[in-house]
Amino acid sequence: MLLIYGANGFTGQLIVEECVRRGLRPVLAGRRADALMPLARQYGLEVRVASLFSGHAPGRPRLTPPGTLPPVPHDELLMMLDGVSVVLHCAGPFFRTSGLMVQACLEVGAHYLDITGEIAVFEACRHRHAAARQREIVILPGVGFDVVPTDCLAARLAAALPGATQLELAFAGGGGFSRGTLKTMLLGGGEGGAIRQDGVIIPVPRAWRTRVIPFRDKPRTSVTIPWGDVSTAQWSTKIPTIHTYLALPVSARLGMTVQGALQPLLDIPAVRRLVERQIDARVSGPNAAVRARARMQIWGRVTHPDGRTLEGTAVTPEGYRFTAIAAVECAQRVLVHPPEPGYHTPSSAFGAHFLESLPECDVQLASGSSR
Ligand SMILES: NC(=O)c1ccc[n+]([C@@H]2O[C@H](COP(=O)([O-])OP(=O)(O)OC[C@H]3O[C@@H](n4cnc5c(N)ncnc54)[C@H](OP(=O)(O)O)[C@@H]3O)[C@@H](O)[C@H]2O)c1
Repeated sequence: MLLIYGANGFTGQLIVEECVRRGLRPVLAGRRADALMPLARQYGLEVRVASLFSGHAPGRPRLTPPGTLPPVPHDELLMMLDGVSVVLHCAGPFFRTSGLMVQACLEVGAHYLDITGEIAVFEACRHRHAAARQREIVILPGVGFDVVPTDCLAARLAAALPGATQLELAFAGGGGFSRGTLKTMLLGGGEGGAIRQDGVIIPVPRAWRTRVIPFRDKPRTSVTIPWGDVSTAQWSTKIPTIHTYLALPVSARLGMTVQGALQPLLDIPAVRRLVERQIDARVSGPNAAVRARARMQIWGRVTHPDGRTLEGTAVTPEGYRFTAIAAVECAQRVLVHPPEPGYHTPSSAFGAHFLESLPECDVQLASGSSR
């Protein structure tokens, strides 16, 4: 049985639609029955409700650091997972919600998947690898646009240039952000930027490095952002140095700098609440026409210590549409034939060619490595 938590959210609803399109009958779950009921009535699906309050105040990431006790799932949450074999967790920001859900999945023996893109969440999941193996469950975060396409491209490039020690990834395109994504970006991103250098994730300023990236359709000026691959690509490729970029117009690059300057204000609870209310009131996410039309461009490059490089590109549907397709495909695969128990990235779970198996997705590697 598949349970979708956060099913009433913008992305959760797209995921439910994709499930129904494929003939799946997931249980719809979340923290508010009234928000879930219209969807449940529309598709004739079961609803289950439990809160994900784990005892800490909303705010900066408070995931369970390695070596400390995990949060204790309450009875309502464990009961919600009764008979469930796969949880597809869609309620973000995930730094607030995933620790408790992962722990609940470990307790009941359900596989855990989510659509996070948050580095701290990936790292926390990764630290549950041994526990997941012992409980014989899969912990597979990042089954959305962040990180399926970049993770698969990274794995393809690393396999084609063994011994590479540097990985750069970038993406461009889209049609706007949902409420949940904006909240995650604004309220969860207090640390600024991040890169992985010689195996270690280190903080860097926002938009720390700017460069022109040769995407398949055209070159674009791009800046470093703390994309999930800073965590996951090391697991997938074993490459120790990883930089991730987002193509942004000048106005958005300026916006990032302004956001950095204003970030201390977002530590004030009243300001955070105000920002959340404004996002709820003003943001609706890309509409169906945009989701159908827009395409995402992905680029990657690996570099070997001897100077050889190899580049690749990918194209996918718009990010939220892609997320629905990829997340449901991952959940369905785990339901039917789960990979080895333990922590996984999309490519470690389903192989580096997983991206090409998805509709309207295409990957191209340059014909050979160059110096
Ligand atoms: N990996 C990717 O590429 C990708 C793609 C899309 C979205 N995302 C991420 O997915 C998350 C959701 O995005 P969205 O667009 O669906 O946002 P949304 O429309 O705001 O929906 C958020 C959902 O999460 C629930 N939720 C939020 N905080 C919760 C908490 N503390 N406890 C229980 N439930 C909670 C909400 O419940 P209520 O309705 O009760 O508030 C709602 O169901 C965001 O973090 C976003 O960044 C990632």
